[in-house]
Amino acid sequence: MRQRPAILIARDVFPAVVERLREHFEVETTPPGVVWSAVEFTERLQDKDGVLTTGGERIDAALLAACPRLKIAANLAVGHNNFDLDAMTAAGVLATNAPDVLTETTADFGFALLMATARRITESEHFLRAGRWKQWSLDLFAGADIHGTTLGILGMGRIGQAIARRGAHGFGMRVIYHNRSRLDAAKEAACGARYVSRDELFAHADHVVLVLPYTPAAHHTVGAAEFALMKPGATLVNIARGGIVDEDALVAALRERRIAAAGLDVFEGEPQVNPALLTVPNVVLTPHIASATLPTRMAMAMLAAENLIGFFTTGQVRTPLNRVSSV
Ligand code: GLV
Repeated sequence: MRQRPAILIARDVFPAVVERLREHFEVETTPPGVVWSAVEFTERLQDKDGVLTTGGERIDAALLAACPRLKIAANLAVGHNNFDLDAMTAAGVLATNAPDVLTETTADFGFALLMATARRITESEHFLRAGRWKQWSLDLFAGADIHGTTLGILGMGRIGQAIARRGAHGFGMRVIYHNRSRLDAAKEAACGARYVSRDELFAHADHVVLVLPYTPAAHHTVGAAEFALMKPGATLVNIARGGIVDEDALVAALRERRIAAAGLDVFEGEPQVNPALLTVPNVVLTPHIASATLPTRMAMAMLAAENLIGFFTTGQVRTPLNRVSSV
């Protein structure tokens, strides 16, 4: 009898996802709370045909050379900067990600983080919890308006467009965006957004939201030069990847009130957080939870699982990132 393919699930996932994969595969799971080191991950993957990754496990040429049986890596994330796609394609390993199912949930969170940041919600809550609220005063935690202001979106994929729709149609914002390629007129009209140059975006937006993919070219692409362009009352929100923002430059800009505030869901080197960020009051920090609702995280995990199943049963996957010859 032909042996069933062997799969590693690289982090703890919902039991229903494990059960679904067990219908087709020999499955090795990862216990709750465990994050494999690169060496441990490689050891576990050496005898596997497929892997469900969560966005934190790096798949590159060195790992692929050590894991010659591997045929597919299914990322439980839309971002895939943990994959070296060229190396995977060269090794004949298919890569998939988990787009679409998280778009609206992530856009909701982008807006929540923007509101919390501009309206100083967590900063004021810390003040209240610390027992420091003694009296009402006119300017107590006075923040920035959202409605009627200009929202600038850097990176206008599906999530950027969903944030734009919320801003334009829900909050009466003027929405401007910059992206590698301009949207067609119908899409621009649907999300009420106007294309501008990158510099114009930073200079004119009252609130800048980063939703671009993290590529080598995007490393620290938002730093001192961009903060110098921004309005002094402006807000920066990052729900993309930590490495996009130069965190030291951001800390300096926040301390000097070069910009008013920032909201960060992602960090360079997460789950470690640059200690300087923890000392700045005008920043809202959340632990990479933009897509974290139970239905959406389940949908993302199931999409990754279905990609693995599709690959080994029909040779078809829903959301491929590269092209390789089929099994
Ligand atoms: C989350 O950050 C994702 O890329 O899905």
